[in-house]
Amino acid sequence: MRETNFLIENNARHLWHPMAHPAEMQATPPRIINAGEGVEIVDIHGKKVLDAVGGLWNVNLGYSCEPVKEAIRRQLDELPYYSTFRGTTNSPLIELSYELAEWFREDGLTRSFFTSGGSDSVETCLRLARQYHKLNGQPERTKFVALKKGYHGTHFGGASVNGNANFRRNYEPLLPGVYHLPAPYTYRNPFDTTDGAVIAKAIARLFEDEIAFQGADTIAALIMEPVLGAGGVIVPHEIFMPLMREICDRHGILLIADEVITAFGRTGAWTGSRLFGVKPDFMSTAKAITNGYYPFGAVMISDKVAEAFESNKTAAGSIGHGYTYSGHPVGAAAALATLKETRKHNVAANAKARGDELIAGLEALKARHELIGDVRGKGLMCAIELVSDREKKAGAAKDVVQKVQDVTYDAGVMVRTSGANVILSPPLIVTAGDVARILTALDAGLTAARG
Ligand SMILES: Cc1ncc(COP(=O)(O)O)c(C=O)c1O
Repeated sequence: MRETNFLIENNARHLWHPMAHPAEMQATPPRIINAGEGVEIVDIHGKKVLDAVGGLWNVNLGYSCEPVKEAIRRQLDELPYYSTFRGTTNSPLIELSYELAEWFREDGLTRSFFTSGGSDSVETCLRLARQYHKLNGQPERTKFVALKKGYHGTHFGGASVNGNANFRRNYEPLLPGVYHLPAPYTYRNPFDTTDGAVIAKAIARLFEDEIAFQGADTIAALIMEPVLGAGGVIVPHEIFMPLMREICDRHGILLIADEVITAFGRTGAWTGSRLFGVKPDFMSTAKAITNGYYPFGAVMISDKVAEAFESNKTAAGSIGHGYTYSGHPVGAAAALATLKETRKHNVAANAKARGDELIAGLEALKARHELIGDVRGKGLMCAIELVSDREKKAGAAKDVVQKVQDVTYDAGVMVRTSGANVILSPPLIVTAGDVARILTALDAGLTAARG
């Protein structure tokens, strides 16, 4: 490794960062993170902070999960790569598909298709949803419905169902035949209410209206996150996802649950769908499936969809989709070890308990800081939305949000900001003491930003 000065001088000079403006990165280079231990990360200056971002919603078991590291090392020695395209497979992958069928059985999902990450998983769901209808004799079902504020990655299909303008505008035109419903967002919505149940029913009516307008027989699937993550941690009312499921069922529309964030315990339940008592037709997963230690993902497939493909005897059932790294043996080995550790530590229960503490602490901060307009969360996915004026709900200025982030970091905790939202998604192994540390540092950040 080159010396510190070299790294600092060349930071953001020869690479473009995802989700950032290259000029801005050159003017204000990003923090260089060099090490991780437990729930903490260490920057190039040796400063150690608690990672309340959890990598990027994915390092659920923290940075010192030795069994996962060991599984990766062992698999690299045994078989570092081999293709899973028709004709070959590998042993850890077969075992993983068995384990995942057990893991997701309660969600009605028993087949898996492997990918290199969340965007790949979403793309796979969208493509297989269309194919399902084709081989079921309904080839006109090609359209997708999604939620505003939803985040579904950045491939063209995923970006097309994405519900945030900043991931769409610069890349338009996107896929035709995609329609968006309002987000189940109690703080800001077009329904003039803060009642989550009223909002859920209003969106359901709009969904029905859109179906009637488009023709049910033209719609392939609805894609939604059970709890919307990157769009600002929007927690729908508990009736929302079941309502969406019921409407989909009545109209022959598939339901894709995008659980890239929520699939392995983050909401306090093992899956977001289970949290709301819903069985989706497809589920996209990635991120925490390998604890973030290896780029990997899995699409989980329901029995209904599996039956349609597996009973088909024509080329229509053949999957013309997949990635060089689908079913990578090192990723599979990492995922197997991660599942075992995830279950052993029952991180979903800890996410629920610590999440309740975090939300209570954020509400207490809201009572003392006018800057906080809204507090949201479920389990260990939480957000505060910053405003310059509570009455008018005017979003906080960029420099104010940055100040909160910077001072919180100086006080020993890394948080992520997205627009006027401060997003908290720490590893699911945090203790009550860690939660207190996050709140204390955030308090310092909010106090400094008040000026
Ligand atoms: C719900 C959801 N879907 C898809 C993605 C895309 O995943 P990736 O960044 O691994 O491609 C993300 C990433 O944050 C996500 O949160």
